[in-house]
Amino acid sequence: MTIPHVDVKAQYAPLIPELQEAFARTLETGRFIFGPEVEAFEREAAAHLGTQDSVSCANGTDALVLVMDAMEIGPGDEVICPTFTFYATAESIARRGATPVFAEIDPVTLNLDPADVERRITDRTKAIMPVHLFGRPAPDFGGFGLPVIEDAAQAFGAGGIATSVASTFSFFPTKNLFALGDGGLIAVNDPELAQRIRMLRFHGSAAKKEFLYVGYNSRLDAMQASFLRIFLRHVDDWNQQRREAAARYTELLDGLVETPVDEAGHVYHMYCVRSPERDRLAAALKEADIGFAVYYQPPLHLQPALRYLGYSEGDFPETEKASRENLCLPLWAGITEEQQAEVVSVLKRASGLVRS
Ligand SMILES: Cc1ncc(COP(=O)(O)O)c(C=O)c1O
Repeated sequence: MTIPHVDVKAQYAPLIPELQEAFARTLETGRFIFGPEVEAFEREAAAHLGTQDSVSCANGTDALVLVMDAMEIGPGDEVICPTFTFYATAESIARRGATPVFAEIDPVTLNLDPADVERRITDRTKAIMPVHLFGRPAPDFGGFGLPVIEDAAQAFGAGGIATSVASTFSFFPTKNLFALGDGGLIAVNDPELAQRIRMLRFHGSAAKKEFLYVGYNSRLDAMQASFLRIFLRHVDDWNQQRREAAARYTELLDGLVETPVDEAGHVYHMYCVRSPERDRLAAALKEADIGFAVYYQPPLHLQPALRYLGYSEGDFPETEKASRENLCLPLWAGITEEQQAEVVSVLKRASGLVRS
C-alpha cells in the first residue's frame, strides 16, 4: 500500500465545490490583490486566534522579517532561536542583518530549552524567537523581560503565548492550515505594530504615493485569502483529527520507538518519533513505499550559509542527536486507521518484532 507522508489533496478534496465557488466569486470581482477577501480573512483569522489584529503577507518567512523590521531589529542586535527548526527561522534574523543566537532544545519536547535560552541572553538580545515545533506549543518565554516573537509556522491553533509581541504563520500547502500556494500571517495585539507591519508589507506605504519606510512587496492574494477563509472553518476539526491519529499511532507503536509525549494544545503538524535505529526504520518505510520525513539534518548551526556565526559540531548535543534520531510518520487530517496500521506493521517488521 503506497502511503504518502502528507496527503494535502485528501484534506481539501471534499471542499472542491466550495473552493471552485470562491474562485468564481473572486474572478467575478476582478480584484486579485488586497480587497474584501483579504480583509475578511485577516478579521476571521484574528478572531480565531483571539488576537486584536492579523496582517497577511506572502509567506511565513516574510512574516518573521516583517515583524522584526517593524520592531527595528537589525545590525548589532541578537535574537535567540532554536537550531532545530526550519532554516527560515534563523534566515529571517540574518536577513534583517541581526545575529541569530542559537539555543538548545529540550530533548523531550524538541522545543527551546528555557534554561539554555537564559544563559545566552546578553545586552544585545532584542528578542526571543521560539518555534512551536511540529505543532507543539513552546514554553512561555515572557518571564525574561524581552519581546517574544513566536514562529508558529507549524502550529495554527496550537494556542499562542499570551506574552508574545507577535505570532507568525505559514500557509505552505503541507502546514496544518494551508493555502493552495504560498501565504503567511502575523497575529498581533498592538495596533501600532500592526499598522507598521501593514505599511511595510506594501512598500512602507499607508496611502497612495506616500512611502514612509523602505518596505517590501509581500502580499497574500485575494484568491488564496478566499480559499483560506474556507479552510479556516475546518482547521479546528482538522487539528482534532490530527490529535486522534497521533494518539492512535502512540497506541499502535506500543513503545517500539520513543513516541511524542502528548500535551494540551499540540496540533501534530508532524508526528515525530525517535529511535537510534532511525535510518534502518526509514529504509524499511522507503522499501514499502511509505512516505516519511527526517528533519533538520544538518541543524541550522551547521548549515553552510550560517558558518559565519562560528558554531561547530558538538555545540548542541541534544539538537544533533534529535536530528539523527527523528522520524516523522505519515500524518494528515483524514489518514485512515488502515494506513496507520500498515505504517506501524512495517516498522515492527523492520525492528524484528514481527516476522514477515
Ligand atoms: C518553523 C518554520 N518557520 C518558518 C517557515 C517559513 O514559512 P514559508 O515557507 O511560508 O516561508 C516554515 C515553513 O516552511 C517553518 O516550518
